Amino acid sequence: MNPFERIANRYKNLPEVDLTQGHSIAYSRSTTRRNMELIDANSQGNVHGGVIMRMVDEAAAVVAIKHCHRPYVVTARVERFDFLAPAFIGDVVTVHCELHYAGRTSMDVGVEVTAEDLITREVRKIASSNVIYVALDENRKPTPIPPLEPADDEERAIIERASIRRQHTQKLEQLLKENPS
Ligand SMILES: CC(C)(COP(=O)(O)OP(=O)(O)OC[C@H]1O[C@@H](n2cnc3c(N)ncnc32)[C@H](O)[C@@H]1OP(=O)(O)O)[C@@H](O)C(=O)NCCC(=O)NCCS
Repeated sequence: MNPFERIANRYKNLPEVDLTQGHSIAYSRSTTRRNMELIDANSQGNVHGGVIMRMVDEAAAVVAIKHCHRPYVVTARVERFDFLAPAFIGDVVTVHCELHYAGRTSMDVGVEVTAEDLITREVRKIASSNVIYVALDENRKPTPIPPLEPADDEERAIIERASIRRQHTQKLEQLLKENPS
């Protein structure tokens, strides 16, 4: 079987997803890390922003897939991407991701990125972002996902903040739509 057939066959019969069974933030939280090498950086040794963005997209998708139990999720939006400090060749870049909000079919993943110098043990926060994914069914159409259920007060506060931010964004988008320049 060639690799494309294997991919196509792997999820031919998707298991049913119990949409009444919510998951906490902790359930899908994920961390990935990688040592920065020559190929990741420019001639000054600074890691390219695009390398960090790719790591973020891959790591945040893991959270979305784990929460919705669907193999198909697509990136719908990178809502914000702040580069706060540079990373260099030899740093270990770590991407911490957790689900902050789940809509009917969409998932808002909050991301923090750090760079660590393994010799001095200095850890710097280098980027943060919010990436929105949409779960798709077998026909590549948006499909409902399980709810995000807070496990404790800390998670409840995170979800509440994300929900307020989403409402603000939607209002702003509506305003811009009604008043095109
Ligand atoms: C994302 C996509 C599936 C949305 O399809 P659609 O038919 O517009 O879907 P709907 O209007 O039914 O919206 C579905 C959900 O996505 C959200 N959504 C759609 N577009 C969005 C965007 N640009 N930003 C944020 N959320 C978005 C909606 O708010 C809705 O959320 P909810 O169900 O939680 O309320 C479609 O636009 C798409 O396939 N885009 C390309 C994705 C892609 O190729 N990504 C890069 C590689 S992975």
